[in-house]
Amino acid sequence: MIKTVRTVDELRKIVRGWRAEGLSMGLVPTMGALHAGHMALAARSLETTDRTIATLFVNPKQFGEGEDLESYPRDEQTDSDKLGQAGVHLLFAPDVDQMYPANFSTGVSVGGLGDVLEGTYRPGFFDGVATVVSKLLNQAGADRAFFGEKDYQQLQVITRMARDLNIPTVIEGVATIREEDGLALSSRNVYLSAEERRAAPVLYQTLMQVASRVKAGDDIIELENWGREQVLAVGFSSVDYLSVHDAETLEAFGERSRPGRVLVAAKLGRARLIDNVPV
Ligand code: PAF
Repeated sequence: MIKTVRTVDELRKIVRGWRAEGLSMGLVPTMGALHAGHMALAARSLETTDRTIATLFVNPKQFGEGEDLESYPRDEQTDSDKLGQAGVHLLFAPDVDQMYPANFSTGVSVGGLGDVLEGTYRPGFFDGVATVVSKLLNQAGADRAFFGEKDYQQLQVITRMARDLNIPTVIEGVATIREEDGLALSSRNVYLSAEERRAAPVLYQTLMQVASRVKAGDDIIELENWGREQVLAVGFSSVDYLSVHDAETLEAFGERSRPGRVLVAAKLGRARLIDNVPV
């Protein structure tokens, strides 16, 4: 059974002990509902550091009005069993008061990067993510922290935030884990009906085709329009964005010599799916 702590003081005491022994540490921040994507982050941490700390905190600051904060899947026992079986050394599962005590009034905002794409459709989302992740990084003081490339914009926002604020933890991205048919694993895939689940892989297939045609030199605006049509044709109700961007700045993809990324967010039934692939 994995040891679970709920306060920053308890977490820091354990971390101090490990530091005194000269052990390196990895941090795997999660909101629970763990799937193979999260376990890949834990595996990478276990492979590259001596002690792995997973965190479980459904962060209210990153949910907007009308989003699924109340219904977000929560099952700490199952999550902690999975982490324990994988060999993770410690679970930090604070409650909301521990993370946001009375009169909490500080926020972290990553301008530019956090305002586009997801930032347009989920105002305040990245402020919530940057605020909680900066706290988790400060609380744990780990050497490395692991985030999935599935949330590609989040990974860029966190990387920039850590650089800008001189947070010494190395931020490492881990490749997206997919179902056999290409659908990226997500805690929100449980919202898909059987029929929607059959249509969902078209998102990834379309991204792959767009990426390969960008590489071949096709017109980007035409490709983005074509991609959106493909997704809508199989039953997605709307596409918030399907567009090609500079992989680091997330600005519109101009210079083909630089790495690019195709990113998508689209609604299928109750689920809003996001995904991305490199160009
Ligand atoms: O990706 C997530 O699960 C969350 O956004 C994170 C990084 C744990 C912050 O709450």
